[in-house]
Amino acid sequence: MGKVDLVIKIAGEGGEGVISTGDFIAAACARAGQEVYTIKTFPAEIKGGYAMYQVRTSLDPVFNQGDTFDILCAFNGEAYEVNRQLLRPGVAFVYDYPDGGFEPEIPAGVHAYPIPMSRTAKEMKSYRSKNMVALGALSVLFNINEKTLLEVLVDKFKSKGTEKLNFNLDAFQKGKELAGGLVKTDPWRVADPAKPKDVIIVSGNEGVGLGAILGGLKFYSAYPITPATEIAKFVALHLPKVRGILIQAEDEIASLSQVLGASYAGARAMTATSGPGLSLMGEMLGMASMSETPVLVVDVQRGGPGTGMPTKHEQSDLFLAVFGSHGDAPRIVLAVEDVKDCIHMTVEALNLAELYQTPVILLSDGSLAFSTQTVPAPKLDTIRIVNRKRWDGQGVYQRYQMVADGISPMADPGTPGAMHMATGLEHGPTGAPNYVPGNHEAMHRKRFGKLQSVADFVKPTEVDGEEWADVGIIAWGSTIGVVREAVTRLQADGVKVKGFYPKLMWPMPVAQYESFAKTCGKILVPEVNFQGQLSHFIRSETSLNPIPYTICGGVPFTPIQIMNKVREII
Ligand code: COA
Repeated sequence: MGKVDLVIKIAGEGGEGVISTGDFIAAACARAGQEVYTIKTFPAEIKGGYAMYQVRTSLDPVFNQGDTFDILCAFNGEAYEVNRQLLRPGVAFVYDYPDGGFEPEIPAGVHAYPIPMSRTAKEMKSYRSKNMVALGALSVLFNINEKTLLEVLVDKFKSKGTEKLNFNLDAFQKGKELAGGLVKTDPWRVADPAKPKDVIIVSGNEGVGLGAILGGLKFYSAYPITPATEIAKFVALHLPKVRGILIQAEDEIASLSQVLGASYAGARAMTATSGPGLSLMGEMLGMASMSETPVLVVDVQRGGPGTGMPTKHEQSDLFLAVFGSHGDAPRIVLAVEDVKDCIHMTVEALNLAELYQTPVILLSDGSLAFSTQTVPAPKLDTIRIVNRKRWDGQGVYQRYQMVADGISPMADPGTPGAMHMATGLEHGPTGAPNYVPGNHEAMHRKRFGKLQSVADFVKPTEVDGEEWADVGIIAWGSTIGVVREAVTRLQADGVKVKGFYPKLMWPMPVAQYESFAKTCGKILVPEVNFQGQLSHFIRSETSLNPIPYTICGGVPFTPIQIMNKVREII
């Protein structure tokens, strides 16, 4: 078969249980010891519209959703129509027939498996269980681990009552019988892993929540917004266990204001939002820069501008993250690659906020928010916590004391001898308002100067490949996972290509970009936005002259797209 992995795509109408079917398959494979990488997409409407879930499973690590699917399970005619161009020879096509409301044309070489999902569910007088009939059939046809599947089904449905649970288990069994009556002609099967691994399977949003709590979070305030809300849902569940507090604020301005207040009072504090919310936070970001207050803002990017495409993928908030605020307002901007980064870079982001007493914006994105991946279970003894510099109680306290590294000691309110103002007004070393021209410039130098050493604090940017390359690919965010695979496959074909994967987006580690470019012929910068936002910063901050490669269809790149582009520019 050649492939060491398998891509299963489930598609249908929002409300038919497409998403949970995919979740069950991903969880069952992960529990059985497989590596999984999933993406899902659904419409903004609460019910109806095209919903899709794609799970890639392998015995080896997988970094993206793959080029296309090997198995398609279509719950309705729209799912068939949307994907029919991708029904290439060799693909297995499972579909709801005869009551699915469509009569597919089966292209030559496609292995077709009609399953009466709707009809069976109707006969069982439990239409909700249509997806369980499909799941039973898929488990038999493609060797999806039945033991772990049943475990996840029981975990999910036991809270919905015994009757509903039993209906679904019966429907699952029925689906198995229906598939058992078919002749399997395709080569696809989920490999039997050696043994379960010490992994957790989490979504990007859960990863951010987990990282925040591992990172010592004590205060979280946010306003719900797609696709960031699941971070708050996770934090609300677990933060009280470490005596932390979560507040749902009345809007994003209030949530960041509350985070600032909590941080001023000495707590590690954060919020999470998406593009529209980050736009509203502009003024309070400036307040954090000016008052040198540690705050973390996680921005889970979605299609913009305006209301845009709330449930669709995009990485188009880099301009906003770097410059969003009036005046010269310094901040640190990081971007995560995958769910593992969501956990560990959230810990680092909190550390950077505390260490540099500045706003830190951590960029995630729509495809990561909802992507679930197998991640090695974090080892608590490897988690590094860096606390803010605190006044030692000696001498006269000045909140904005001019010191060599620009990072003045903080003192919690109420500390004897340390009464001070943390203000949004321009101020002198004591914190008292100060409008002397020379002072404004001196304080700018302080606030920007202290960030000079950030590049030394974080790990150097990863270079993926050897000495010289005809094409160097600079990727950021979840696009990195796609480029990793493209680089590996191109190198296997003898193409001289290498990757550069920045996580510290701002201040830009310019020297690292320059030294990478010295080992490449051309520089390609693929990103999921319209203007080529990282390309813009590369042109303005470095001597590189990159070739932008932008898509903005609400879905991530695929490895084959990157490979074709590299071949085209070579
Ligand atoms: N028996 C009983 N319940 C079942 C079931 C079954 N066989 N199969 C699924 N369900 C439940 C799921 O558990 C889920 O309930 P839960 O949310 O309490 O867990 C619900 O039915 C939806 O099923 P699911 O598989 O998760 O989703 P779906 O494929 O049916 O698609 C969505 C529905 C995801 C599109 C819709 O629920 C949604 O979330 N829409 C909102 C989109 C959005 O975020 N808009 C942005 C606004 S700005």
